[in-house]
Amino acid sequence: MKILIANFKMNMTPSQSKDYLINFLSRYESGKVDLTLCMPYTSLYIEKFLCVNRGVKVGAQNIADEEDGHNTGEISGKMLKDSGVEYVIVGHNERRKKFKEDGKSINKKIKIALKNRLGVVLCVGESLIERNTLKTYEVLKEQLKSALKGLYENELEKIIVAYEPIWAVGTGQTPQPKEIEDAVKEIRKVISDDFSEISSKNICVVYGGSVDSKNIRQFKNCKDLDGFLVGQACLEPSELLKIIAYM
Ligand code: 13P
Repeated sequence: MKILIANFKMNMTPSQSKDYLINFLSRYESGKVDLTLCMPYTSLYIEKFLCVNRGVKVGAQNIADEEDGHNTGEISGKMLKDSGVEYVIVGHNERRKKFKEDGKSINKKIKIALKNRLGVVLCVGESLIERNTLKTYEVLKEQLKSALKGLYENELEKIIVAYEPIWAVGTGQTPQPKEIEDAVKEIRKVISDDFSEISSKNICVVYGGSVDSKNIRQFKNCKDLDGFLVGQACLEPSELLKIIAYM
């Protein structure tokens, strides 16, 4: 089954999330895709309440890189787990850039997520400058290596790698399907070199960056691509339902 992860980013109050979910779930047929909705922290409770038994997983957009204690404003793995969260996004470029999250912190977040039995959506991707200077694969390799450092091979089962070129996020621009396929191949090669061939085949890789109902058919048959991570297009229930229908 193809994977679809929706990242709501900093959109929707709890009341708006409730209205959204009631609308969406009244028209959503489970079983077509493996769906995770990553709403803001303040909506997780309502999401857990409404999505339970509806075949929709609750996701979160971030996790603290430490356990409990003196971390004002942070949300721990334990808190997420108890809020019904199954997957957490780690390493999104908006966090890498604005909140200065580096490879070390991302690696710690992943380990804490796994310790709390949470799945991880690990975002990797190059900037426009890196793309133009032909550094894409170098960047992907470096980001993957630092994020996955010290992990056991069997822990990769809980990781979904999201290839999100920074220049494609929120811009309406997308790579060509062949470019996505090449990046996916490179991601799997790094996994094969650092872990094993079998885990490179088994690890799930999705694409994110300006995916919507108009362009999804272009990408859905990309070789070895397991699904999508959607931002802006998930904010309208009808648009998200269309994407699901076309997958
Ligand atoms: P857009 O789909 O809005 O480009 O965002 C993608 C994204 O950042 C998902 O995490």
